[in-house]
Amino acid sequence: MKVTVVGAGNVGATCADVLAQREIANEIVLLDIKEGFAEGKALDIWQTSPINIYDSRTIGSTNDYSKTANSDVVVITSGLPRKPGMSRDDLIATNAGIVKSVTESVMRYSPNAILIIVSNPLDVMTYCSYLTAKVDSKKIFGMAGVLDTARYRAFLATELNVSPKDIQAVLMGGHGDTMVPLPRYTTVAGIPVTELIEKNKLDAIIERAKFGGGEMVKLLGTSAWYAPGAAAAQMVEAVVRDQRRIFPVCAWLEGEYGLSNIYLGVPVILGKNGIEKIIELDLTDEEKALLYESADAVKGVMNVLDNMNLIV
Ligand code: NAI
Ligand code: 2OP
Repeated sequence: MKVTVVGAGNVGATCADVLAQREIANEIVLLDIKEGFAEGKALDIWQTSPINIYDSRTIGSTNDYSKTANSDVVVITSGLPRKPGMSRDDLIATNAGIVKSVTESVMRYSPNAILIIVSNPLDVMTYCSYLTAKVDSKKIFGMAGVLDTARYRAFLATELNVSPKDIQAVLMGGHGDTMVPLPRYTTVAGIPVTELIEKNKLDAIIERAKFGGGEMVKLLGTSAWYAPGAAAAQMVEAVVRDQRRIFPVCAWLEGEYGLSNIYLGVPVILGKNGIEKIIELDLTDEEKALLYESADAVKGVMNVLDNMNLIV
């Protein structure tokens, strides 16, 4: 299996490293526009192979897409990260131009690849890539929910002092402050979380998860990379190993949840064809209202992209 990661920055290099360490693909191409940068990161990753005992090979490329030819999966992380004071949506103008040109180059060399978008603002960059690539939406989707639920689950594991392995959760909506963690679908080894934690504490954890990206930006001065890189790699693994994992994924909706023509986080089955199925939960009126509020926020940013007339 061949996987390309575009953008050898914090998230892209971390994703490539996880792919290599876990032997998720035997050939990993890391590509960046910055001269020599991807080659350097790829060489550094490859030099961990004798220490960490694996044989997946990572190679780097400075903007030469011929090296990415016939990739099975391509992860797009190229673009500016958030800085303190910026929202994810502030990144739209710059990152849309980058995601569009990267998608065109990727499709030229790997027309059958499955694309996983990471660049922010996530839901709208996934839409941008989809409009550019003009392929089945089941093959283009975004990484956000795996990261957002990981944050939510990690906070719960800390609060309950239990293994994060035992915490399962569903989270829906856009990758922004309007995301919708769903306590009704959060369990700890099968036990509803509401039986283990007081409501006010759970509400505080949900709020922290919703603003989890901003918390990291404040601490680091840029956005996070270990969890985002690992989250993208986990989605790649589900596809290349045809695992049929159920993850919250930013997917193109065509009537599901009463929503159409929008990329939004929903639970899906991920397998060799990309999105094998979108799972429709029977949401309460309150949950639906939160989801629609999030959809409105995403639509607003999608309209900004549409009005830029970048993609014809
Ligand atoms: P970074 O600045 O460390 O890396 C970005 C890389 O993209 C740079 O090395 C840059 O040279 C490269 N790049 C820029 N234009 C390019 C082009 N046209 N072709 C190829 N490479 C190009 O940023 P970081 O932290 O890796 O974040 C990357 C993106 O991922 C940002 O937009 C960030 O907001 C987003 N992100 C999304 C998350 C999510 O949950 N979806 C989580 C964390 C970050
Ligand atoms: C994150 O959630 C900023 O999207 C980035 O860490």
